[in-house]
Amino acid sequence: MDHPTHIQNNSIVELCEKFGSPLYIYDGAKIEEKVKVLKDAFSSINMKIKYACKANTNLSVLALMNKLGVDLDVVSPNEMSLGLKAGFKNSQITYTSSGVSFDEIEACVNEGVICNIDNLHSLELFGKKYKDTVPVILRLRPNIMAGGNLKISTGHKDSKFGIPVEHLDKIHELREKYKLKIIGVHQHTGSDIKDPAAYTEAAHIMFDLALGFPDLEIVDLGGGFKVAYKENDKIIEIKALADKLIPVFEEFQEKYGKKIELWFEPGKFLVSEAGFLVASVNVVKENPNANLIGLNTGLNHLIRPMMYDAYHEVYNLSKIEKPKDTSYNVVGYMCETDDIATDRLLPKTEPRDLIVIKNAGAYGFTMASQYNARVRPAEVLIYNEVVHLVRKRETFEDIIQNQILVNL
Ligand code: LLP
Repeated sequence: MDHPTHIQNNSIVELCEKFGSPLYIYDGAKIEEKVKVLKDAFSSINMKIKYACKANTNLSVLALMNKLGVDLDVVSPNEMSLGLKAGFKNSQITYTSSGVSFDEIEACVNEGVICNIDNLHSLELFGKKYKDTVPVILRLRPNIMAGGNLKISTGHKDSKFGIPVEHLDKIHELREKYKLKIIGVHQHTGSDIKDPAAYTEAAHIMFDLALGFPDLEIVDLGGGFKVAYKENDKIIEIKALADKLIPVFEEFQEKYGKKIELWFEPGKFLVSEAGFLVASVNVVKENPNANLIGLNTGLNHLIRPMMYDAYHEVYNLSKIEKPKDTSYNVVGYMCETDDIATDRLLPKTEPRDLIVIKNAGAYGFTMASQYNARVRPAEVLIYNEVVHLVRKRETFEDIIQNQILVNL
């Protein structure tokens, strides 16, 4: 089954005819399904989903999350503004900063958005300025190795992220000095985590640390749930994770003596499988060492294969009934070696065929660029069987709009 989703292959062809290619297509029903999996698994406790919107910040995707009862985790004031524009209330947004200037923290506090602070210097500035008048969350680094690869692992002892647990005494000094109202502790150990033990291990550490903070309302265990990139891929089974975590959480809550909210910040889990990048075949080369399919897209639109050696499944939509009997490397059209998928069995492919690249809903468009002075694709969201164009394809005007040609 090449296309296990609610969107039919023939409608993908129609969308490409209407909006052109390359085209990002998002399946709203899939997003809804993923939200439900998470909510159902944790329905017995007070769990909140804070969508890590860096994965996909299209305003309409954000609005859909809001409609589905999901809150927002942002990593910059502009992401916050996108969230507000999409209809989120400030009370639904958390600003998880990572080594940012204090101005940004102030900007978010001014909007009434709660900040998650990741270093002692900013915490000191925060204490001096706001004392106990503005609640705050702390990002701690539990010294745990988790995540698909080192580039996306964030909780280990050499990581730049968070306040190391070794500095707990310093945190408490600042807390007492400024009467800081620390209402949450947070950790995010990495992305593409497939082992539930990474969560339970981090949860134990977090719950133990949490007992030392008297004003807590929230424990935030971050995002990172691995999704399937191919059939039979090992993923985090959310139900199994919930069955392990809930008793540990309840035990902690009892010890703490108060009801606490458990937060997660999934990005990929909610949107990765909902997104497809559909591209057209420009050229087919039967080279002596490999057959190449050259697409009208590349690392400018989907950088994950190049940046993380990420595996994305591809299939030929135009030859869906034909046998997959030819090995191909699928490559981009950039002036770089931008491999998208190597050594894949596909039907005999021809120029103008449509190739679908799966798992493109997370960190696809948001990491896209105008490299090689190429424009970024249009985006389409399908929800309740209605097709919505949610971003127009860029034009040359978008490439030059902020440039200034000076007379030298
Ligand atoms: N919370 C925090 C604080 C994060 O830094 C991240 C991701 C998330 C939540 C969501 O993680 P997710 O559930 O999406 O794994 N561009 C990379 C992934 C970078 C993740 C950065 N932080 C990729 O395409 O694999």
